[in-house]
Amino acid sequence: MVTLTFDSLVEGKPFQAEVDGAKVCVARVGDEVFAISDICSHADANLSEGEYKGYVIECWLHGAEFDLRTGEAITLPAVAPVKTYKVSRDGNVVSISAPKQESEK
Ligand code: FES
Repeated sequence: MVTLTFDSLVEGKPFQAEVDGAKVCVARVGDEVFAISDICSHADANLSEGEYKGYVIECWLHGAEFDLRTGEAITLPAVAPVKTYKVSRDGNVVSISAPKQESEK
């Protein structure tokens, strides 16, 4: 598990964190925070180096889009989802822990 401060998260600018040795892309949308695997399911690119609007993050390498809430691949060339991580927030403290689902297809 890793903890961050909510104030340090800037909407539209993904943040890379490390949870149990895995790279995780953290994104703030309004008062909500989402965390997904930072590795694109299409190839080896860090999603945290791209941009997101609303709940949709775009991989900077080939343009695949993912839903931050579910990890679902929305547009090609990615077809497989990325893992989602459990996020809880207590005031200014955001905690991110192991994936909600084990299978990364
Ligand atoms: S590496 Fe992300 S779309 Fe290709």
